[in-house]
Amino acid sequence: MCWATLLLYAGAYTTSIQAGMAFLDWPLSNSSINPDGWLTNEDMRAEHSHRLLGMKLGLLAIVLAVWTYLREARRGVRWLGIGLLGMVIFQGLLGGMRVLFDRLNIGTDHNLIAQTFAVLHAMGAELTVCLLVALAVVCSRLWIERNAGLVGPVPSGLLRWGKIAVGVLAVQILLGAIMRHAGAGLAIQTFPLTETGGLLPRAWTFPITINWLHRLGAAVATITLLVFVSKVYGSACTRRLRGLGGLILFLLAVQIGLGAATIWTHKNPVMASNHMVVGAFLLASTWMLALLTHKTVYVAPPGAAKNPQSPTPIHRPNSPQGEPSLNS
Ligand code: HEM
Repeated sequence: MCWATLLLYAGAYTTSIQAGMAFLDWPLSNSSINPDGWLTNEDMRAEHSHRLLGMKLGLLAIVLAVWTYLREARRGVRWLGIGLLGMVIFQGLLGGMRVLFDRLNIGTDHNLIAQTFAVLHAMGAELTVCLLVALAVVCSRLWIERNAGLVGPVPSGLLRWGKIAVGVLAVQILLGAIMRHAGAGLAIQTFPLTETGGLLPRAWTFPITINWLHRLGAAVATITLLVFVSKVYGSACTRRLRGLGGLILFLLAVQIGLGAATIWTHKNPVMASNHMVVGAFLLASTWMLALLTHKTVYVAPPGAAKNPQSPTPIHRPNSPQGEPSLNS
């Protein structure tokens, strides 16, 4: 996760200073793994660091996949390790395609194919982080030995809001990626109100509309996360997961602050890059909380003291009021 965070920041910073095309070739940089001048030229340093970090994440993913395959008894988890490796390779290819397609159109205003690959590469990064989080979660003691922190079966409403929260955040991040790669981050230059002094924009061109939708998405995401986290706080069975809920609300506040700062500083690259990285953390922690709440809770059947090896899974929702009967 630490390595992936460095990689995310390097990728976000490269895009923020528009250095994605510092090298016109791929997978090598100016036909070399150690191109001339990459430590002194800022654009080259950003892009080449991003490539090197990506390569090393690939190596780490190979180690993880092999290790998981050899040491893990659960088949699904072994596949998760392999899936993560496949995703990292695919992500590298998407990044490479973005460079190779953009090279054909240097200097033109629109290059839809390259922009599409850039957006896919941005979303692939989020998916990679989520797979990594899933692997870490299902291999953790919390998941294996402590029932994912659950005290009883989780109400179906809470489970539903977890899925909605992850979905809304994914859409919000997609809007952010489209906006960023269409160069529309400052299509509306004031925040929280638009240039009209109200909430609606002055026109509905594509850059303005996507920018406005990203703001609307932030409001929807805020409401959704508040509902999801309040349900986690309000339910006895998820009381041990409240800290994670608190972290999500903290990240949400930081994320909105960084979004505002990105506008107010006219897209300072550090602000914009941190906004992207915290966005990924917000999605990852919401995904983690949703995943934890989806763990099947095992309870011992009557007389289980004689046979503690055969626990019975509870199928949710198993209580009419939606709250656990705490039969565990
Ligand atoms: C839940 C809230 C939010 C989330 C999850 C979120 C997520 C993101 C992400 C992930 C990106 C970068 C996409 C990429 O390049 O891959 C982005 C871009 C951006 N976001 Fe947000 N965002 C949120 C709220 C806001 C708010 C409240 C503002 C304030 C107006 C804002 C302003 C921006 C701007 C200006 C960019 C483009 C930066 C650039 O062009 O370099 N965001 N957002």
